[in-house]
Amino acid sequence: MTSIAAVLEGRDLISMRDFTRDELLAFLDEAERFEDFERPIMAGKIMGSLFFEPSTRTHLSFTSAVQRLGGTTLGFADARVSSTAKGESLADTIRMVENYCDIILIRHHLEGAARLAAESSNLPVVNAGDGTNQHPTQTLLDLYTIRQKRGRLDNLKIAFVGDLKYSRTVHSLIETLTHFDNEIFLISPTSLRIPSEFLEDLDARGTVYSEDEDFFSLSSDVDIIYTTRIQEERFPDPIEYEKVKNAYRIDLETMLRVGTEVTLMHPLPRVNEIATDLDDYPGAAYFDQARNGVTVRKAVLCMLLGIDRD
Ligand code: CP
Repeated sequence: MTSIAAVLEGRDLISMRDFTRDELLAFLDEAERFEDFERPIMAGKIMGSLFFEPSTRTHLSFTSAVQRLGGTTLGFADARVSSTAKGESLADTIRMVENYCDIILIRHHLEGAARLAAESSNLPVVNAGDGTNQHPTQTLLDLYTIRQKRGRLDNLKIAFVGDLKYSRTVHSLIETLTHFDNEIFLISPTSLRIPSEFLEDLDARGTVYSEDEDFFSLSSDVDIIYTTRIQEERFPDPIEYEKVKNAYRIDLETMLRVGTEVTLMHPLPRVNEIATDLDDYPGAAYFDQARNGVTVRKAVLCMLLGIDRD
C-alpha cells in the first residue's frame, strides 16, 4: 500500500468533498491491484450492512467483495425488520451495530444520514447512498470505469443526461470531476436541472460546462454520456413525475446519430431510458460499471480497515 493509501486507514467515506485528488487516485490505483484478487485477507473482519433503502448492486457487490476476501457480513436489507420500525433512532442503531462489526455500510433515504452515522460511531462508516446527496463508492467505480475505457480522467467531454436534480450518482461524480480538467454538458428537462450549488462548484473550480434540454445538442466528439433514471421515488408530486418520465429514451439509432466511439454509462437500475438494443453498442459500459463495483469496493474496504493486500 502506498503512503497516501495508508493515510486513508480509519477514515469514513461519506462525501467526495472530503477527499483530495491524490486520495481519489490512490483509491483507483489500489483498486487495480484488486482485479480478480481473492485471498482471505479480511478473515475475522465483519461488515455491518444497514440498508434503509432498496439496493441490488451496492448491497450485493459489497457483500461479494467481503466474501471474496474471506470476511463476513451482518445487517439488514429492509429496515422494516430492524428496531427502527419500533422507533429506535439512527444514532442508537449505529451505537449498537458498532459493537457487532468492524466497518459500517449505510444506505438511507435522508440526506445527511450517513454523516450522522459516522458521527455516532468510532468505526469507519461508508455511505452507500444518502437521499439525493452522495454515493461515493459509485463515484469511485465510475471513475475507475472512465479510466479503464478512456485511459485518462482529464481532457474529456462528458455529458450527463436525465434527472440531474435528484440523482446522487450524478451529484457525487460531478463534484469529483472538478478535481480534473474536463468539459461538462448537462442535458435535462428544465424541471430537473442540476441544483445551483453544483454549478457554483463548477464555476469555482473553473470547469467549463453548458446546460441544454435537447439530447441532440451534444456534439459528435463527446467522449462519455452518463445517463440516469428519472428518480420517481424522490418526486414530491407524482404529476410532476408523469410529465418528465419519458424525457429521454436512448436507443441504438439515437446513439448512432451521436457516434460509435462514445462510452455510454449508467449507474443502473435502468427503467426505460436506455433501450436493451444498446447492450451490444460497442461503448456500452454500464454492466462493466456494475462489475467494477466489486473490485473497487474490495479496495475501499481494505484501505479503510488498514488491510494491506500483500
Ligand atoms: N447503482 C446503484 O446504486 O444501484 P443499486 O441502487 O442497485 O445499489
